[in-house]
This record gives sequence, structure tokens and C-alpha cells, in this order.
Amino acid sequence: VTLIFERADGSRTSTEARIGGSVMEAAVLGGIPAIEGECGGCLSCATCHVVAPEGLREVGDDEDAMLEGTVVARRPGSRLACQIPVTAELSGAVFCIPEEP
Ligand code: FES
Repeated sequence: VTLIFERADGSRTSTEARIGGSVMEAAVLGGIPAIEGECGGCLSCATCHVVAPEGLREVGDDEDAMLEGTVVARRPGSRLACQIPVTAELSGAVFCIPEEP
């Protein structure tokens, strides 16, 4: 499925994501800037911070705690991309990359 990542300046990059993988994995493979996924998806680095579209904004407890430590301050809709599984329904979803203005 195709996922879209939008930067603070409004520019968009789309990348192919594998169903069953994570949004973080797709972003890293797609070379999306500022999404590093340093810990490989084990919920311990918070370098996979994205702002998720409506409907994908529910966070788990551990994720909630990690979101307090992101480089760019947490916003409404902030998620850790490694905790978002890629499903067919995500096709065309737009994830915003949190960047300082
Ligand atoms: Fe480390 Fe998501 S990749 S918390």
C-alpha cells in the first residue's frame, strides 16, 4: 500500500509499505527524513515520531510514556510509527512529520 509523509513545509513523499510491517519500517526504507527508527521498533527510542491521521490516534500505555520524550514536542495525534501496523486500510494515509517550524 502507499503511505504519504508530509513535512512541515507541506511537501509530500509517498512510499510503498508492506502489509504486516510497521509504518516506521516503511518510512525508514523509503528514506523519509527525520524518521530514524533507531531502536528498530522496540519502543525505546522515540525517533519514529509522526502525527497520525484521525482514526489512528489511540496510543498504548508504553507508547504514551515514550511520547513524552520525543525530540520535537508531542502534539495532538502524535504516535510512534513503529507501533502502527500497516494494513490495507492505510492505503493513501497521510502522516505528518513533526518538525520545528
Ligand atoms: Fe524506536 Fe519506534 S522505532 S520507538
